Amino acid sequence: MGSYDKTALIAPWNEPPILCECMQITEADVQEAMMNHRPNTLKELIQCSGAGKGCNACHPILREVLAGLDVSCPSVR
Ligand code: FES
Repeated sequence: MGSYDKTALIAPWNEPPILCECMQITEADVQEAMMNHRPNTLKELIQCSGAGKGCNACHPILREVLAGLDVSCPSVR
């Protein structure tokens, strides 16, 4: 009988969606930064949210957030 981590079985449903994998920033973190800091540029959004400081792969999604698109909708990506 082996043991297993029971939390690993439910973790995918409980974890918030990550927008920036490099910095582990969630969609909620970015939306909160948008509401609190009202950034107008990608550079400002990166500074206030902490997202986008790694490989830059999330920059297109961050630009969509700045444009006011709902990035939580799969059809946007
Ligand atoms: S995924 Fe955001 S910087 Fe790499």
